[in-house]
Amino acid sequence: MPATLRALRADITRLSVDAIVNAANNSLLGGGGVDGAIHRAAGPALLIECRSLGGCKTGEAKLSFGYKLPVKHVIHAVGPIWNGGDRGEPALLASCYRRSIGLAAQAGAASIAFPCISTGVYGYPVQAAAEIAVATVREATAAHPGIREVQFCCFSEDDLTVYEAILARHV
Ligand code: APR
Repeated sequence: MPATLRALRADITRLSVDAIVNAANNSLLGGGGVDGAIHRAAGPALLIECRSLGGCKTGEAKLSFGYKLPVKHVIHAVGPIWNGGDRGEPALLASCYRRSIGLAAQAGAASIAFPCISTGVYGYPVQAAAEIAVATVREATAAHPGIREVQFCCFSEDDLTVYEAILARHV
């Protein structure tokens, strides 16, 4: 039975899933955007744990606890900065989704929510990023049957429309 994939418009810090994914940077020491929102909602203990993780390479992801967030785990994924698309960005973005699903499965999560990684400050075009996100999550959840639900958490109506159109193609 394949995992359920759905898109919604929400603030990811308010979702009650087993794990949420953060669009982090290589330092894992917080930032703006969704990274800032997650650290604000989780509280200072998250930064203390992140300091111990020793950073994270682009395309990779690392696991922490959720602290004051309504989730058990935060998975910090570092997406690529958009540079026109021929510097390996698609593969690095796909790797963020694949690694995050793998870490969530290892942690025993059954449900996970992703933000639109790299499409804010990092400038990745939303449509191209969403195509990669959905295709990679479909493939990765087939390999990790413990993941039963994936939510694509959009912060804008426009992003939600993009995801809904892509997900509708697969039914
Ligand atoms: N909930 C869900 N999505 C959010 C939230 C939120 N509370 N806040 C922002 N977003 C959305 C943005 O609108 C965008 O669609 O998350 C998506 C990713 O945008 P960014 O947060 O800018 O992340 P990214 O483009 O991957 O850039 C990462 O930004 O914040 C810094 O430290 C971070 O250096 C890193 C860089």
